[in-house]
Amino acid sequence: MNQTMKQKFTDILHFRNACKLFNDSKVSKEDLIYILEAGRMSPSSFGVEPWKFLVIQNEQSKQKLQEASYNQTQVGTASAIVVILARKDMKLEQSYAEKMLRRSGDDLYESFLKDFYTGYTANMDAESLGNWSDKQCQLAAMNMMNAAAVLGIDSCPIGGFVPNLVNDLLEIDQNKYQISMLLPLGYRANEPYAKIRNDFNDVVEYLD
Ligand SMILES: Cc1cc2nc3c(=O)[nH]c(=O)nc-3n(C[C@H](O)[C@H](O)[C@H](O)COP(=O)(O)O)c2cc1C
Repeated sequence: MNQTMKQKFTDILHFRNACKLFNDSKVSKEDLIYILEAGRMSPSSFGVEPWKFLVIQNEQSKQKLQEASYNQTQVGTASAIVVILARKDMKLEQSYAEKMLRRSGDDLYESFLKDFYTGYTANMDAESLGNWSDKQCQLAAMNMMNAAAVLGIDSCPIGGFVPNLVNDLLEIDQNKYQISMLLPLGYRANEPYAKIRNDFNDVVEYLD
């Protein structure tokens, strides 16, 4: 990595903030695709990609999502909201995982992946399978936030929403999906507060 890329990434980390209010500027179709691509390219356990990204741009839907998110203004003022869905149908016999694992080839699937995946998920109940997917979705969210920041686009990870309200609003198939996060995107209306973080030595410990 050259010095310019290194500095650029540091700039991206500092640019990204949990934006509380967006202005009226719209995120272009091209930029939105760039951001969603960063989500699609994210790492996932066994490469199973346990997510789906819904894109909401309609004004009325954004307002309703804001109401379902404790009236947080960054939801309603966003140019677009990516609703990140975590897959719940992650047992092998539910076919989605099998389809994904077979992409590595039928031989590898039959000789190794099938048993390994079955063993790995054997003791997971529906809730832990959902949580497993959910934490992977948060990686995709992070990639999308950083990709947005590369383009000078702001975002805010939203965990503060009422799942049942959002499920109803977007008619989510709850057998298949749970909502991981709402990710509003747009351009900041105000400059962010200075970042607050623990000191490096409070969070990093080198072990011998
Ligand atoms: C899982 C998760 C859920 C969050 N939910 C909200 C939220 O509902 N509303 C909000 O304004 N910020 C939310 N945040 C953003 C954090 O408050 C914010 O990242 C943190 O205060 C640090 O500030 P910064 O991101 O601006 O550096 C969430 C962050 C994470 C990781």
